[in-house]
Amino acid sequence: MPFFQPKVTPLPSGIDLQGKSAVITGASAGLGLETARQLLTLNLSTLVLAVRNESKGKACMEALLADLDISSKSPTIKILKLDVNDNTSIISFSKTLPQILPVVDILILNAGISRLKHNPSPTGHEESVQVNYLANTLLLATLLPYLTTSASQTGSPTRITWVGSRMHEIMTSFPKKSPLVTHTSILEYLDAKSTISPFSRYADSKLLCAMFMYSLAPRVDPRKIVLNMVCPGMVDTGISDFLPVYWRVLVDLVKAVRARSVEVGGWLIVNAAVVAGEESHGRFLGDKEVLEVSKYIRSEAGREVQENLWDETMVELRKITTLPEELR
Ligand SMILES: NC(=O)c1ccc[n+]([C@@H]2O[C@H](COP(=O)([O-])OP(=O)(O)OC[C@H]3O[C@@H](n4cnc5c(N)ncnc54)[C@H](OP(=O)(O)O)[C@@H]3O)[C@@H](O)[C@H]2O)c1
Repeated sequence: MPFFQPKVTPLPSGIDLQGKSAVITGASAGLGLETARQLLTLNLSTLVLAVRNESKGKACMEALLADLDISSKSPTIKILKLDVNDNTSIISFSKTLPQILPVVDILILNAGISRLKHNPSPTGHEESVQVNYLANTLLLATLLPYLTTSASQTGSPTRITWVGSRMHEIMTSFPKKSPLVTHTSILEYLDAKSTISPFSRYADSKLLCAMFMYSLAPRVDPRKIVLNMVCPGMVDTGISDFLPVYWRVLVDLVKAVRARSVEVGGWLIVNAAVVAGEESHGRFLGDKEVLEVSKYIRSEAGREVQENLWDETMVELRKITTLPEELR
């Protein structure tokens, strides 16, 4: 990736989402909130803000409705609690969502964190693995029947856009420390306290996401579900606010010259969810371009990890939910 990111063109004119509905996870800040704003500006009729903090979500909803460009279109905005660091919350979210939104057109899997430190999640996994990866696999496992039925009702494939990161290719620890050699389990490798360098933690969790997306896409019917993943490049959001002060100063300097505005980042997520066609199914979009599968994922070791990861993830999911037919 070049230091200076390429310029991004705005969304094409003429997009009209009237009558359509969307759900965005992690919609209370950064790219999720901006994507919400852009979809509503494009006339989206119904939006569910999936947020871990309901009062923050309510404040976001009020701010969105205070925007004249949005309020003039009279959309319905709902808040639904979703803490992706808590499997009970995910299961409860997946049960309640179809009750408050019987049909969905667009699901944006956006909630995510970037952490240097190993931090245990209440689920027993490391927090980055849980929040960025396992939570999304559980959401997909529990929502797939609803997403498929939605497509039958709307007559168009339900769109799922998962927000990934090209860091999965650049910063991953996997090629250097193959877990196949040193560990029997990929999840155990990532959950362990000492194995991963702090700068690989985020990238490794996003590598799992990309692998899962590549494994899941051929198992779903693209006439019912179009699933893609997008990396919006470096975007000026609060994702690096967790860093210790000395790192934050450096990162803020880099962001000042390199990062895209959140508006531009939002264009890229909306592009993946609304503009990119069915040909984007099972593809990773870097900005607006379909990227080749990463060198590591294409390698023999990478392919083996991808297969083992699928099996391990199914074992994890079976402990929590009944798998839909696509995952069996
Ligand atoms: N910014 C970038 O340069 C960049 C680049 C590539 C990809 N991405 C990806 O873009 C996505 C959004 O990141 P961002 O930059 O917008 O970060 P952000 O500003 O920190 O926003 C993250 C969002 O995720 C939510 N979230 C975090 N933990 C959660 C949990 N346990 N349960 C539910 N929601 C949770 C946050 O909720 P709260 O509001 O409650 O904190 C917030 O709404 C992430 O997946 C990230 O990996 C970002």
